[in-house]
Amino acid sequence: MIRLNVDQNEFNKIISQFGEIGRKNGELWRSSYTPEEGDAKKFLRELMKENDIVPKEDSVGNLYGFPKTSKISADQKSIIIGSHIDTVRNAGILDGALGVLAGIIAVSSLIKQLGPPRKKLEIVGLIEEEGSRFHSGFLGSRAIVHGLTQADLSEQDCNNISIAEAMSDSGYDPIKVAEAKRNDIDAYLEMHIEQGPILELNQKNIGIVETITGFMMLNVEIHGEENHAGTTPMEARKDALVAASEVIRMIPETVRKISSTARATVGMIRVCPGSTNVVPGKTQFSIDIRDTVENGIEKIKGEIVALLEKTKSMGFTFSIEEVVFELPISLDSDLIETLDTVCQQQGVSAMKMNSGAGHDAQFFAERFPSALLFIPSQKGISHSPQEYSNPEDIFLGTRILAEMIKKLAW
Ligand code: GLV
Ligand code: MN
Ligand code: MN
Repeated sequence: MIRLNVDQNEFNKIISQFGEIGRKNGELWRSSYTPEEGDAKKFLRELMKENDIVPKEDSVGNLYGFPKTSKISADQKSIIIGSHIDTVRNAGILDGALGVLAGIIAVSSLIKQLGPPRKKLEIVGLIEEEGSRFHSGFLGSRAIVHGLTQADLSEQDCNNISIAEAMSDSGYDPIKVAEAKRNDIDAYLEMHIEQGPILELNQKNIGIVETITGFMMLNVEIHGEENHAGTTPMEARKDALVAASEVIRMIPETVRKISSTARATVGMIRVCPGSTNVVPGKTQFSIDIRDTVENGIEKIKGEIVALLEKTKSMGFTFSIEEVVFELPISLDSDLIETLDTVCQQQGVSAMKMNSGAGHDAQFFAERFPSALLFIPSQKGISHSPQEYSNPEDIFLGTRILAEMIKKLAW
């Protein structure tokens, strides 16, 4: 199996160092168009340069790395290897970051040992996959695959700063976003932690993803009546938080009835006006709905709308905004088989599986052959500071990624 330019300890150190960027008071958060993101890109640019890779950003701020190799005609399409550089709030250090760092190490190791590839290779560190600042998420991959429009840039963060404003404040020209769109992609490869327990339970080292979950993000608002907490009798209230609680309480049961593969999560809630002595007049909350089966998501949305409709008879009104809706997507069957062959040839235990987490690969897969490879997550924990993967698994996964790139590009 291919040797890497770094040993396991050195690679672990790079991952840990990168995981300190954006940490404040012990909590890691790198969102887009922030100084933390700038620092992360500075680190990646240095690492790329040390590995003979030339860094260059596109018009939205995705950071590409171009290995210094000759012999390739300029009109050749690229194999792109990467993942995202942003994180959720209070994140672990591996989600996204691992795929970018592993891409740099794998490609540079291959070139050092095998000489120039016959195919054009690029690394990419993508922005705002998580949607922790701009909730629609996947900004970097959407910009590359479909192109962002000026309308997309009107989305606002929780401080009412639009994407366009955030871009300008960080030195990017929002007028140029469309320039990030690409047509010249041969394949996209992403290595990622599993973020679930399947590989650990099955004692496998590598997961080969067949289907990535579809997902829908809804913003719901329930309107009641703001009033005094002390003088308004219990029977005379239109408490928007109580109404929201009734709806939210029913979601798990509703989902279980519809599909065993579906998930729905209310992860953000805002009570207005948000005062201890005021009956809430308005509640806003998010609902993240996912399923690897088509139709599951829309059925669940329908049931949730029915739950919301019921609140009308108690005098509430509601609005529901569909922020994102992506169908489940299958990854490229040839790349899946190639990855399977690579694992077999290297004697590494692998299994095919689906992904319940969203990934940049799902957007790339809409237009380009794409593959996603998982390594085990301890206890399946992710989107949490407790996220952890064994250094041995990380190292082995990176070597398998390198073997996969070798098969495709040498
Ligand atoms: C991305 O990490 C997601 O699955 O929400
Ligand atoms: Mn991720
Ligand atoms: Mn994530």
